[in-house]
Amino acid sequence: MIFSVVVLAAGKGTRMKSSMPKVLHPIGGKPMVQHIIDTVNKLGATNIHLVYGHGREQLQNKLSHNDLSWCLQDQQLGTGHAVQQAAPHIQDNEDVLILVGDAPLIKESTLQQLISVKKEADLALLTVELEDPTGMGRIVRQGQQVTAIVEHKDASEQQRQIKETNTGMMIMGGRDLKRWLSALNNNNAQGEFYLTDVIEMAAKEGKSIHASQPSCAIEVEGINNRVQLASIERAYQAEQAEALMMQGVSLLDPSRFDLRGELHVGQDITIDVNVIVEGKVKIGSNTSIGANCMLIDCEIADNAVIHANSIIEQAIVGENCSVGPYARLRPGTVMKEKSRVGNFVEMKKTTLGKGSKANHLSYLGDTEVGEGANIGAGTITCNYDGMNKFKTFIGDGAFIGSNSALVAPVSIGVNATVGAGSVVTKEVGDNKLAIARARQKNLSSWQRPEKS
Ligand code: UD1
Ligand code: CA
Repeated sequence: MIFSVVVLAAGKGTRMKSSMPKVLHPIGGKPMVQHIIDTVNKLGATNIHLVYGHGREQLQNKLSHNDLSWCLQDQQLGTGHAVQQAAPHIQDNEDVLILVGDAPLIKESTLQQLISVKKEADLALLTVELEDPTGMGRIVRQGQQVTAIVEHKDASEQQRQIKETNTGMMIMGGRDLKRWLSALNNNNAQGEFYLTDVIEMAAKEGKSIHASQPSCAIEVEGINNRVQLASIERAYQAEQAEALMMQGVSLLDPSRFDLRGELHVGQDITIDVNVIVEGKVKIGSNTSIGANCMLIDCEIADNAVIHANSIIEQAIVGENCSVGPYARLRPGTVMKEKSRVGNFVEMKKTTLGKGSKANHLSYLGDTEVGEGANIGAGTITCNYDGMNKFKTFIGDGAFIGSNSALVAPVSIGVNATVGAGSVVTKEVGDNKLAIARARQKNLSSWQRPEKS
């Protein structure tokens, strides 16, 4: 059966108190509406019609990589009016799945089930029983048969006792939908064109209306303010943490772990508290990530140890490497196997060869370090002259004494040594010792000044 999807996302989300449209607020680092689009993409719909209104430019910017049919709803006159904006693009012979843009945790399996329920009926509704249904549309039944949805504001005292509510998600045939939409009016408590009025029309025509439920109420929970945004974020993070633990990752405290992207993991990974993972990250087997680390679009190979408070962004950490505590690996950094970077070391566009070490207080930028080199504490590569960036080469087995400044472009040869405190501006040949600093004088004639 071919089907299309309509996602309602025109509302401003006034209660977010934001200049950004509500549906762009992130859950797990991704706009909430993108979660819905990603889930829908797995269903194989022919078209996704996005009904939008507020924040057109921001939406088009953030969602430009999706294949969407954009339907402008200039004024928000209600959910029925919103779906009407997509009606010209809807085929008579297709089913139309209607979703709301602000319930990002909806699962593929729940939607699959709704779609299969529709196969046995003319219309299928996703409903949920709520302890406190205040504000929601109520599902009115006669016996088992659904006969209408009544909005909270229009409901009688008796109808308000009903706990089965409308999630806003439903599926029906295109021909029926278009016919019912064109018959909507706004004679109701809110003066809006309610999508929910099509249910009563369907029932009156003797159409069969079936309902199905999500596996968990959180899936259909809408976000209207930042308190709900935070609570859905926690629910989402808990779900991801659980999935990782089931894959064999130890999270020392799953409630203090945040994944804002995709994490691919090996086996026997231990992650300490307050670790944030963003973008696309790979962590190999037998690795441990210390407390308070940020891992952003990076790869960490097997048997690596990342100590606390390290930040790794667009970098590759090889097998058996050690990073931190307090290290910062910036974009373009590659650590080859068994290399080590210690506290307060920053690297950018730098390759640290196999077994090489930069253990303390260094900046290495635009640098290539060979194998088995030792970069002493406080070594700085001076890669920038204020206008341009230059490269530094450090050969295999080189030893750079503490507190040296290597002024790029410059190269240090294989097994060369640089004396501590040197400012190196010229090439150092293989096996050579370079000392580039004022020589120490001990003056015996000097007198310490006295207080006058
Ligand atoms: C709607 C349902 C209600 C249901 C509830 C579930 C109707 C009339 N009511 O109520 O039965 O229990 O959702 O959350 O359908 N939107 C537009 N254009 C509009 C109006 C809304 O795009 O003109 C979008 C909103 O951006 C939002 C969604 O539709 O994503 C739902 O709108 P909202 O105003 O939150 O509907 P409710 O009053 O909560
Ligand atoms: Ca709502």
